[in-house]
Amino acid sequence: MRARRCLGRWAVPVSASGLLGVAIVGSGGMAAARAEDLAACGGARLVVIAGRNQRTAAALARRFGVEHSRDALAAVRRGDVDAVMVTTHPDTHAAFGAAALAAGKHLFSESPLALTPLDAAQLLDLARAHGLVVRVGHTSPLRPAPRLIRAQVNALGGALHDTLVIQFPNDRRAGRGAGFVPSVSGHPVTYAVVLGLQVIHGRGPIVRIDAAAAVDGADGRHAEVEAPAAGAGLRPFERCAAVVTLQFQDGGLATIVYRRGFDGPSSAGRVVVCRRGEVRYQEGADHVRVVGPDGARALPVPAADPWAEELDEFLAAVGHGRPMSISAADAARVVALVDAARRAAERGPAAGPL
Ligand SMILES: NC(=O)c1ccc[n+]([C@@H]2O[C@H](COP(=O)([O-])OP(=O)(O)OC[C@H]3O[C@@H](n4cnc5c(N)ncnc54)[C@H](OP(=O)(O)O)[C@@H]3O)[C@@H](O)[C@H]2O)c1
Repeated sequence: MRARRCLGRWAVPVSASGLLGVAIVGSGGMAAARAEDLAACGGARLVVIAGRNQRTAAALARRFGVEHSRDALAAVRRGDVDAVMVTTHPDTHAAFGAAALAAGKHLFSESPLALTPLDAAQLLDLARAHGLVVRVGHTSPLRPAPRLIRAQVNALGGALHDTLVIQFPNDRRAGRGAGFVPSVSGHPVTYAVVLGLQVIHGRGPIVRIDAAAAVDGADGRHAEVEAPAAGAGLRPFERCAAVVTLQFQDGGLATIVYRRGFDGPSSAGRVVVCRRGEVRYQEGADHVRVVGPDGARALPVPAADPWAEELDEFLAAVGHGRPMSISAADAARVVALVDAARRAAERGPAAGPL
């Protein structure tokens, strides 16, 4: 377990212990990761794990010496809970987030904040009305390689074309589950935008968005990609490829490619063609390659813990009202971008076969 500094020193009333009491909803991979970070953080205290899966919830609660509950709504309303971390699948982020905020608790939600812009707007309204902090775990822009790339791209005059390919190796074997079910995790473009936030963050307004998704059905047939809202109505898939193209007000383009369900190694990475050079990164490499007016360099990717950083930022925002690198409005913008990309993907090509 990592021991580290914690920024929280509460300017708001907190439970009797003087520590920010936290409930985690969900008991899967991110619940465990967030619980570890909370345990390493001196300013907050995990109080309860609430989940529908009593086996994993009990095991996680036992590991951290806290209570577990089947009743998430009762857990978030507890008097000793000041903040709620929602670590469930995307289809329930909005409902659990709203329950937390309505109960007067600060919210840390896994990404995305919601699956529809209406739900996202309602969450922001609730937070505003109750004076509460909303943080979404949009980790990709905080990871050290994207940060280093951002700095290098700026030094090279900005991006003309930023190409990001997202594909996890051996995803066919390892990736079964909610991520392959659009009614749970949203239209395939959702994760192109969410994981592609590293190319959008800090880049200014977007003036045009286009998208397309190819989905291969669980029964081997081509799955339907029309969906009335978010991912509802889409069948689970075996493999998908989603492409989202963005044009920024600064004139530059970005292409985000997201592939899920493919076996073998991946070709994930990033190539940014800049005004005065180029930045390249192969996912997982320990360096970023920069070609500029002075020649080529390999810059080492520094070590960092972005999950701990986003927790620290959340605690400092709750404790001191300190601005966060990803605001609630930024998180709502991601939901709006996902919605725009989904609508673009559903619109289909402008003309027939060419
Ligand atoms: N920030 C990051 O870097 C990062 C990385 C990975 C994932 N994520 C995000 O984190 C979220 C969770 O991902 P994960 O990998 O942790 O998934 P996971 O391992 O499948 O865990 C999800 C948990 O939520 C529970 N759950 C789902 N629906 C629920 C409901 N209606 N009521 C109560 N509990 C419910 C699941 O219970 P069951 O066991 O019954 O299914 C499971 O315990 C996703 O939104 C994902 O996008 C973020």
